Amino acid sequence: MHASHTLTQKLHTSQSAPQLTDDGQLKHFLSVEGLSKDLLMQIIQKANGYLLPNGQIKNSNELDGCTVMNLFFENSTRTRTTFEVAEKRLGANVLNLDIAKSSTSKGESLADTLWNLQAMTADMFVVRHYSSGAMHFMAQKVCPSVAVINAGDGQHAHPTQAMLDMLTIYREAKKPFEALKVAIIGDVKHSRVARSDICALQTLGVKDIRVVAPKTLLPKGIERYGVSVFNEMEKGIAGADVLIGLRIQNERIGSPLLPSTAEYFKMYGITQNRLNLADKDAIVMHPGPMNRGVEIASEVADGEQSVILKQVNNGIAVRMAVMAMAMEGQRSLRK
Ligand code: CP
Repeated sequence: MHASHTLTQKLHTSQSAPQLTDDGQLKHFLSVEGLSKDLLMQIIQKANGYLLPNGQIKNSNELDGCTVMNLFFENSTRTRTTFEVAEKRLGANVLNLDIAKSSTSKGESLADTLWNLQAMTADMFVVRHYSSGAMHFMAQKVCPSVAVINAGDGQHAHPTQAMLDMLTIYREAKKPFEALKVAIIGDVKHSRVARSDICALQTLGVKDIRVVAPKTLLPKGIERYGVSVFNEMEKGIAGADVLIGLRIQNERIGSPLLPSTAEYFKMYGITQNRLNLADKDAIVMHPGPMNRGVEIASEVADGEQSVILKQVNNGIAVRMAVMAMAMEGQRSLRK
């Protein structure tokens, strides 16, 4: 893997870091912004190809011999674990850096951490970071043969979550993307998932995208992104084919943004009575972690229309697809 790259080259800082090669292949996966419908469909179809009819996932040797390092500067259950499962299913050597015990706690900079790990022959970094834009920064700092995959950066983007959401809609909704009505419900203002989902849905041709939330949980000027805004839940979900609930950050409850958990659930909770206002075939999604009884009722989260656990399983397939495609793009640059 590293035969043509000396340590000096590995330590060299690349100046340019767009996520595509000159011929349009992925070489990093930083954001869904700027990616074509064709490329998003390639990711969906490649991921779909790993999924077997019984819900199991096919193994592949596309990362055979590659070293993937997982750097999670923020907590995670689903993303971290499904990335690790995906890496192992692709045949990669996997290293999980324990950030709490790393020299980050002694003040080492992000770039120095990265360069030291790169010198240990990393081929790919999967990174979650609390700072928006951290992944673009890292993609500029790695040497040209190393891929950076965004596992969520601040309030900016969560592109693999968006793509697993798109794969889930592709597999579970009864209509094509162009005909869907999608309602995104909850804390849109602070949600990297909402930003990435809106961008992916628009690129895939969804025309009716609604955001449903109290004014305090909507970013100013959200209409500019081509979505319809609803402050009343019943109107926002009427006839919807897909409901995507967002996590309410508990730290915001009791703040001026939200009066109380009970009040929020009364106004915006996804309950069975409200779900009955959506299309009869509507699916219910949530990226997790869920607050039951706050943004969603247990009877809906565990009900027949819920595809929440399918999202988790689809996350493995999407992460396999994205990593395999980025590594293929990196390999094409080495030829
Ligand atoms: N959806 C999601 O990103 O969940 P985790 O924070 O558990 O990874």
